[in-house]
Amino acid sequence: MNIFKLQDFTIEQINEIIDLAEEFKAGKKVDYQGKKVVTNLFFEPSTRTHYSFEKAAMNLGCKTQNLEAENSSIRKGESLYDTVRFFESIGVDAMIIRHPQKEYFLELQGKIETPMISGGDGTGNHPSQSLLDLMTIREEFGSFAGLKVVIVGDVVHSRVAHTNFEVMKKLGMEVYTSGPEIFEEPGYNFVEFDKIIDKVDVVMLLRVQYERHEKNFNISTQLYHNLYGLNMERVNQMKENAIIMHPAPFNRNVEIGDEVVECDKSRIFKQMANGVFVRMALLNMVLGDE
Ligand code: CP
Repeated sequence: MNIFKLQDFTIEQINEIIDLAEEFKAGKKVDYQGKKVVTNLFFEPSTRTHYSFEKAAMNLGCKTQNLEAENSSIRKGESLYDTVRFFESIGVDAMIIRHPQKEYFLELQGKIETPMISGGDGTGNHPSQSLLDLMTIREEFGSFAGLKVVIVGDVVHSRVAHTNFEVMKKLGMEVYTSGPEIFEEPGYNFVEFDKIIDKVDVVMLLRVQYERHEKNFNISTQLYHNLYGLNMERVNQMKENAIIMHPAPFNRNVEIGDEVVECDKSRIFKQMANGVFVRMALLNMVLGDE
């Protein structure tokens, strides 16, 4: 079993994964007793996804391996397929793969039998991030249908936005996007931030992904923050029970004010904590019984 795109899962399956994650959060134990090896293959930088998958594997009693891409034969030109095929040939039980190429997994599908879970493919998809976002939302509101969310910022470069926009709509949420027009994704219900902020249940902020910009993005951080960032003035316009989310890492005082990161409405660190339980659920699904 592979997990590359959350869009491939039904509403029922998504809720079942979150149910299992909640069981782990409540103390459910699965112990593979060191008999399973989970290998992390990160070809792009990561802190949260990489190390929370590793923590999830440790919580399940797995052994872990972490490819050091910079010190590996990738430096000699070895391909993604040949690297993954190597880890399969030495007998690892699951691989977590993050790669800068959108839909990198198409070249692996049907050729690799070891279970693979994507930790993100370029600007395409981020299934485990979307699941931890959804778990956090369901914990807060009990269900998804009818909730209104605005995803604000560098939408066009964001695999989080691309996955969440499609999956949240499938779950019956009303999804809007906002931010600079240069980051607008066609067909993504683009609205002005200040016209929607007092109407939504969830404000999900996105990092400005400077490293993915082909052209210079010539707005000062101060102007960006004033026009599109979440500051306390905007937080005070949000509905009483509305929450703030961000996949992180964040650019403080660009898309999110320093004082907003840990304000009462913020669920950002809860998202990170839930990431471990969601990833335990995904690993348990692909590894099977103890
Ligand atoms: N949210 C997220 O994917 O963070 P990392 O890039 O640190 O893994």
